[in-house]
Amino acid sequence: MTLTLDRVSHRYVGERGDVVHAVADTSVTIPDGQFVCVVGPSGCGKTTLLKVLAGFLRPTGGTASVDGEPITAPSPGRGVVFQHPNLYPWLSVRKNVELGLRFQGVPARERAARSVEQLERVGLAGFSDHRPYELSGGMQQRAQIARVLTSDPDVILMDEPFGALDALTREQLQDDLLAIAREGRKTIFFITHSVDEAIVLGDRVLVMSPRPGRVVLDLPVEISRHHGRWLGGEELRSSAEFRELREQVAGAIVR
Ligand SMILES: Nc1ncnc2c1ncn2[C@@H]1O[C@H](COP(=O)(O)OP(=O)(O)OP(=O)(O)O)[C@@H](O)[C@H]1O
Ligand SMILES: [Mg+2]
Repeated sequence: MTLTLDRVSHRYVGERGDVVHAVADTSVTIPDGQFVCVVGPSGCGKTTLLKVLAGFLRPTGGTASVDGEPITAPSPGRGVVFQHPNLYPWLSVRKNVELGLRFQGVPARERAARSVEQLERVGLAGFSDHRPYELSGGMQQRAQIARVLTSDPDVILMDEPFGALDALTREQLQDDLLAIAREGRKTIFFITHSVDEAIVLGDRVLVMSPRPGRVVLDLPVEISRHHGRWLGGEELRSSAEFRELREQVAGAIVR
C-alpha cells in the first residue's frame, strides 16, 4: 500500500493553551513495498508523524492517506511496533500475540493457528505458553512483531523498535525484519536514532529537521541490495558507498 503525507503539519495544544509546533508542512509518498527509515533529532516530530500514519492522531494541517484513502482511525492493516514491548503480563505469549485477531473477531482456532505460525516465524515457537516476563527484552520485542504480523498488515510502522536492545540481538532482529519485509512485500516506516541502522535497513532514508520537523534530506539507498546486508551487514558497513551515505545522512542531522 502507498502511504502519502500531503503537507502534513501538527501543532499540539497543551492544557494551559501552550502550543508546540511539532511537524511543519511535510509531504512524502512512500510507494507500496518500500522500506523507509526516518532519522532526526529528539523532539523533531518523528513519533508524531508515525501516530498520524497509524491513525492515532489527526494532523492539524494537511492529510495522510493510504492508497488515496484518508487515514482517520487505526487499522489492523497498519501494524505498529513501539520501542518498548507492551505485552500484557497476565496473558501467555500466544494470547498476547492473538490479541489483535481477537479484536477483529477471528475465531479461536484460526487465531491459534495464525499466532503459532508467527511465533515460529520470529523464533519463539517454544515460548507460546510462557508469560512475557519470562522472556528477554529481545524475545519480547519478537513477540510484539509476531503480534503485528498475525494481522498480515500491508504497512508496518515502527518507532525505534530495536533501540533498547544489545547490538547482537539488534542485528539479528534487523536481519529478520529485512526477511519479513522482503517476503511479505510490506511497506515499512521505521524510526531510528541510528544512522547505520537506517542505511542498513532502508531503501530510502528521510532526515528531519529540528522541531517543527520537516524533511530536509530524502536519500535513496541503492547499494544495500548488492552487499551482504543479510549477514549483519558487515561487508556493507565497511564499503566506501556506505561510508559516503553515512556521512551524507549524519551531516544532514542538526542536533
Ligand atoms: N501529546 C502531546 N502534547 C503536547 N506536546 C507533545 C505531545 N506529544 C509530543 N509533543 C511534543 O511534540 C514534539 C515532537 O514530539 P515527537 O514525540 O513527535 O518527537 P520525536 O521526533 O519522536 O522525538 P524522540 O526522538 O525523542 O522520540 C516534542 O516537542 C514533544 O514535546
Ligand atoms: Mg519519538
